[in-house]
Amino acid sequence: MSGSTRASGGRPDPPEPAQVLIPPARLQARVAELAADIAAAYADTDPIFVTVLKGGTVFLADLVRHVGIPLEIDFLAITPYAAVGTARIVKDLDLDISGRHVLVVEDIVDTGLTLAYLLQVLASRAPASLRVCTLLDRAVRRIADLPLDWVGFEVGDEFLVGYGLDLDGWLRQLPAVLTVRDRAVLARDVPGLVRHLLR
Ligand code: IMP
Ligand code: MG
Repeated sequence: MSGSTRASGGRPDPPEPAQVLIPPARLQARVAELAADIAAAYADTDPIFVTVLKGGTVFLADLVRHVGIPLEIDFLAITPYAAVGTARIVKDLDLDISGRHVLVVEDIVDTGLTLAYLLQVLASRAPASLRVCTLLDRAVRRIADLPLDWVGFEVGDEFLVGYGLDLDGWLRQLPAVLTVRDRAVLARDVPGLVRHLLR
């Protein structure tokens, strides 16, 4: 993954279009820690874990397998805030959350505008409690001031892919979080990059 010279002393490798920021082992260890905390907080409450499609699905899938308490899972889809200047639900939850303990599981909170909208919608349905767990927190870009109950990692202002995060719909399946250096190069041969990274 580095752009260093080959051990053979040949020509330097071309700079990689993406670089590992959080490797799989660190992700998995942190997910297990978060799950232990969350399990303790939700003991005997039969919570609903709510995830926004599609970015949060990979994190959610790993998280729930470490949370050893009864829980339900539900999904919703929201138009990205930036796309229309305001968020809108395009696929709603199946479950009734009134009187239930709800944990929103997010991939990344960036400006926070999408999550602020979501929390407002969910709060209006009178859940018993409403909290947030996000894998990644990009606080430097925050516009909406939001209480985040659990945060996996603080990240800076670089575009990220992998572990649920996408580049135009691609690269969600990577087992690591990567920093994108060159979007144009990445976009040119995404399947090739996936094969290279998963090698
Ligand atoms: P915001 O907090 O309303 O600005 O938007 C957060 C959403 O934007 C996240 O749930 C992601 O789906 C997406 N997003 C934000 N930053 C990134 C990134 O670096 N890579 C991929 N998707 C991102
Ligand atoms: Mg998201």
